[in-house]
Amino acid sequence: MALPDLFKGRLSLPVICAPMFLVSSPRLVINACKNGIVGTFPALNTRPQSLLDDWLSEISLELKAYAQAHPELPVAPFGVNQVVHPSNSRLEADRALLKKHEVPLVITSQGDPSEIVKEVHEWGGLVFHDVIYAAHARKAIAAGVDGLIIVTAGAGGHGGTTNPIALVREIRTFWEGPLALAGAINDGYGIRAAEVLGADMAYMGTRFIATEEAEVDPVYKQMLVESNLKDLIYTDAFTGVHCNYLLPSIARAGIDLERFQGKNAVDLDLGDSNAWKDIWSAGHGVSGIDAVMSVEALVNQLKEEYANAVSKPAFGAG
Ligand SMILES: Cc1cc2nc3c(=O)[nH]c(=O)nc-3n(C[C@H](O)[C@H](O)[C@H](O)COP(=O)(O)O)c2cc1C
Repeated sequence: MALPDLFKGRLSLPVICAPMFLVSSPRLVINACKNGIVGTFPALNTRPQSLLDDWLSEISLELKAYAQAHPELPVAPFGVNQVVHPSNSRLEADRALLKKHEVPLVITSQGDPSEIVKEVHEWGGLVFHDVIYAAHARKAIAAGVDGLIIVTAGAGGHGGTTNPIALVREIRTFWEGPLALAGAINDGYGIRAAEVLGADMAYMGTRFIATEEAEVDPVYKQMLVESNLKDLIYTDAFTGVHCNYLLPSIARAGIDLERFQGKNAVDLDLGDSNAWKDIWSAGHGVSGIDAVMSVEALVNQLKEEYANAVSKPAFGAG
């Protein structure tokens, strides 16, 4: 296990509730952390940019007060996802606020994290970088990141295309540090499977959209409960980047599904449909979601499943 010291004694499960555009809110982050899993959000969820200051104050203050009032409970640190690509026009302003609030975990994506790594280390924070290929992982390690998040096939959002078993094993040939695995991990069995493979943590997104705390349209949550793998499509039609979307949300936006999935989609008018806002994303784990529940109830369920998975004897062990 290569769990960073920052997490030791502060987790009830080796889980990061992943940052999700237009989904993660202070309420979701705070409740994740209070239940002992790392809560995170993308900085881009705060609009205008100045709102990031308010969110960081709210999350830090509430978690501090909760940890003081409940010293016996594991209260997880929180994290912020920062797009470090130079095209992100708010990068400088966001970085100043991450520094002001000494954000414990910064999750970098889409770019070179070396600059932000130096800065975050000054206040003792950690940087985990999102990768979908081993080559990206090597570059991030060279940039000095503290941990890697491997986003593999079947993940919600801009999921990767590589098989998780292959990618974890490949990255473990050259990286011994903290490793989180993302892609369709939905329950305690998946969390345990990630550990058995060689990851230290599970990075779970889609499952947390179907929680009471996720501040999304209730129709989205219900769609997750009702949908199966066959209801997903992996397409770049909406943003130019491949992403897993829920077909029922595409139909709900008024797009003809038969034409959308057919060969004549090229000239299909997608109207004003807005990816993320109206066209909703989910990972392959969607088939395993059968109820909307509170984060607390979900974490309790994950703990039970994880304990069952851990107690299952390995082949040959009796
Ligand atoms: C609706 C949605 C929005 C997402 N937005 C972001 C984002 O803004 N930044 C990011 O790094 N990852 C984003 N992701 C990816 C998640 O952080 C995570 O990698 C993924 O959800 C894990 O796969 P799973 O959904 O199958 O659990 C998003 C995923 C979803 C489902």
